[in-house]
This record gives sequence, C-alpha cells and structure tokens, in this order.
Amino acid sequence: AAIKKYQFDVQVKNVSRLCHAKPIVTINGRFPGPTIYVREGDRVLINVTNHAQYNMSIHWHGLKQYRNGWADGPAYVTQCPIQTGSSYTYDFNVTGQRGTLWWHAHILWLRATVYGAIVILPKQGTPFPFPRPYREAEIILGEWWNGNVEEFVNKANNLGLPPNSSDAHTINGKPGPLFPCSEKHTFAMEVEQGKTYLLRIINAALNDELFFGIAGHNLTVVEVDAVYTKPFTTEAILIAPGQTTNAFMDAPVAVDNKTATGIFQYRGIPNTVLPSLPQLPASNDTAFALSYNKKLKSLNTPNFPANVPLKVDRKLFYTIGFGKESCPTCLNGTRFVASLNNISFEMPQVGLLQAHYFNLKGVFKTDFPDRPQTPFNYTGAPLTASLGTSTGTRLSKIAFNSTVELVLQDTNLLTVESHPFHLHGYNFFVVGTGIGNFDPAKDPAKYNLVDPVERNTVGVPTGGWTAIRFRADNPGVWFMHCHLELHTGWGLKTAFVVEDGPGSDHSVLPPPKDLPPC
Ligand code: C2O
Repeated sequence: AAIKKYQFDVQVKNVSRLCHAKPIVTINGRFPGPTIYVREGDRVLINVTNHAQYNMSIHWHGLKQYRNGWADGPAYVTQCPIQTGSSYTYDFNVTGQRGTLWWHAHILWLRATVYGAIVILPKQGTPFPFPRPYREAEIILGEWWNGNVEEFVNKANNLGLPPNSSDAHTINGKPGPLFPCSEKHTFAMEVEQGKTYLLRIINAALNDELFFGIAGHNLTVVEVDAVYTKPFTTEAILIAPGQTTNAFMDAPVAVDNKTATGIFQYRGIPNTVLPSLPQLPASNDTAFALSYNKKLKSLNTPNFPANVPLKVDRKLFYTIGFGKESCPTCLNGTRFVASLNNISFEMPQVGLLQAHYFNLKGVFKTDFPDRPQTPFNYTGAPLTASLGTSTGTRLSKIAFNSTVELVLQDTNLLTVESHPFHLHGYNFFVVGTGIGNFDPAKDPAKYNLVDPVERNTVGVPTGGWTAIRFRADNPGVWFMHCHLELHTGWGLKTAFVVEDGPGSDHSVLPPPKDLPPC
C-alpha cells in the first residue's frame, strides 16, 4: 500500500462551450477535474484549498470511508464547508473496493462543474475477473449550462422547473457536434481494430438519467459502482446520476442524439464519412430500463462473494412524496417540497456527524418514522396534495451491525418519476424491484438473495419500488438522497445515524485537526 497525495485548488476559471463563455468553479482550472488514480489498500491525502468566493466541500462518491465519515464530504452532514481562503485534507484509506467511482462538490449545485473520476486499481497481483483490456478510458457524462446555475436553482426551488433544463449534455466536458457552435468541443478517442477497450462510464449529470451507446458496437458490462457484475452484452447502458459502469467496447463509432456525441476514430481508417449515431432507447423506455436492470447481477464467485443479509433486523419503508408549501418570501407564495415519509429534510447549521460525535443537543432528532404515518394507495390515482409534509432534521438511528432492509416506494404525488437514490458510507444489495405498490405479503418471496447487484446508487422506478439490504457495519452519520439535484434541493433526503459498535475499533474515529469549523 502506498500513500497517494493530491492537491486540489478550487479556482474560478473562464470556460467556453456552445460559444458562451462564463466563469465556472473548477479544481486546478480543469473541467472536468483531475482523475484520482489509486490502488486498493492505498491511503489517499487530498488537500483542498479554496481560492474561490464559494464555500466548498467534496464527496468521494462510493468510497465507504469506514469509521471515517470525516472524509465523506457532504456539507453540513459530515463537515462544515471549506471557506474561501481555507484548506482541508481529506485523509482516507481505500479498503475492500476496486473499480470506477467519482468525486464531486457536495454543496449547493457546485457539482455542475466540480467533478472528476476515481479509478481504483485492484491490489498488485490480483487480476481483474475478466480479460485485461488493451487500453481504458474514462467517459464522464455531464451537463452544460449557458446561464448561471445558481439562478436556475432559485427558480427551480420556487417554480419547480422540469429536470431537463441544461443547454447541452457533455462527454468529458464536451457537448459534441450535434449542438450548435460546438464542433471543436467534441470528445474523440482513437482506437485500433481488434483491440479491447474498457470504458469507465460515469453519470455526473445533475438531473438526467442517461443512455449510452456506441454506433455499430455492443458493450459488455462488467462492473457497476465499483463492484464486479456477471458480464452481459447490451446495445446501450442505462446510467443514473451518481452511478458508474465499466463496460468493454466490443470489437468494431459516436454517442446519443439529444445527449452528447463523441467519436471513436479507428486508427488507419480515414474519417471521410460522418460518424453514425447509435440507436438508443427512447428516454421514457421503462421496458428497456426494467430488462436492463434485471440483467445486472453480482459476480458472486468465491473471490467476490455476494454476502446478502438473509435475516433482517430492521425493516424500513419510505415513500417518496412531492408537494407545495406556502413560502411568503417565494415567487407565487409557494415553493416545492419533496419528502420521505412526509418529512422534508432540513439542512442543519452544523455538521450532523460533529453533533453526533460530540453529543451536541438540539441539532437533529432520531425520530424518523420507519414507515409512512398514513398509508395510502401510493401509485393509484394521481394525488396533488402533499399529505401534510413537515420540515425537519429528523434521522433514523440504526444499531451497529444490524441488517437493514429499506423499501423505497415512488408515489403519484404530482408526477411519477424515476429516482436514483444514493446511500453514503455503504454499498447495498438491490434485492427486489417492481411496478405499483410494494406488497409486503408477496413481494419479498420474489427477492433475489443469491446474486443481486451490489451498488451505492439505485433507481427507484417510475410508479414502482425498489428494495435494498445492507449490514450497518460502518458507524457514523450517513446521508441518503435522490441524486437528482433538483429533488435533493427540494428536500428528498435524510440521514442514518449508525451507532458505534462494541470496542474501540468499531467506533467513529476522532475528527481530524483541520476539520473545517462551522
Ligand atoms: Cu454523489 Cu451525496 O452524492
């Protein structure tokens, strides 16, 4: 194991896309930001120094940060922001994980431009459970906004804008030639015939679930969210904000119409014809989504077993709600709210992890309900009322090492939509999913408890439910939220307090000395 050090300078830089130049927040002046390359077992020290007029905080999405929430990054959950002129060193070990993850700003909407890839190579001498690729490449899908993202946020919070409101989708920060004024910002990669390429695909978009495909090629998926999967071949992958997918680009070029395009140029073949576009499923193709997700399974081999909890200590059932609430200071006098079990999460003024560790009173309550207070027909006739949403910093307390099953149920409040839920500090097994209302009497019998996919971000289908299981073996305060930034902003989030276990090596580590003060 080695110590890997990185310097991240938060800087504002002028960047131009679609012929619109604007100042954006970057790391080291780069958009997307630098890739972190580490090996399983390494200790990583990333010094973040903030030279911008915005508070900053960075999350290493998918890294478990065992006992070490201090390095997790969500602002006001595990730390207070790094203020202008200050620094903080994220200090963590990469244990028991290898594959593709990513990092992004975790404060307001700064992740619109502050993001990059994390590549964790397996330990020396531990090969991939698939043939070694000739080359590999990171493909980061993102969004570009000509205007000021902050303004969009404020409008979205007051008026409720539809999620697809960026001006372009991007591949590695480039929109590609299908967008006006964008020819010179096209992602291109030279490939050789007969060689294998591993693509590390990351969805860093703020609000859009995306399909990714390459014309004339299939993709073989081998890993999601840094966990190996049983390989399967597909024309397109489905990837939600927050998720990562490693796929081989199968032998014999470009990428999606409404989204961004890029070019895979074969060496030695002249580029005289325009690249063709791949056929991608329609954006509302639920059938494709369901069948794609069914194919995702854990590798489940002796070296990479799927240790699915078979017995459940704690059953949680959370409904996803939306509504409007009155807001005298807002335009129109109302604002949008989103909730879990009718509770819209309110961010505290100090870090929740500090409050937990130092036992500060009055910052949060641990009375988050395990199930909805007033059950209703969740996916029946459309409902417009928010069913009495209340705002609060209410968390659920979970006993150390207990096994948890959480069913996330979409509802017909306002709109039906797919929600990518991300849990910090853990991977979980996706044991079941379905359309309609979850039926506790019948659905568990259909769970996959043998080789369900293990990941850190999962889509709750439109008008349906998803069941996940995990063992609460990582003490601390862990955020869970919809990775659609719009919904997170409306309050579609909560956090778990996982208690310390017995003995000093099952408790939260002491905070680092340079932890930013509130
Ligand atoms: Cu990728 Cu809490 O986020």
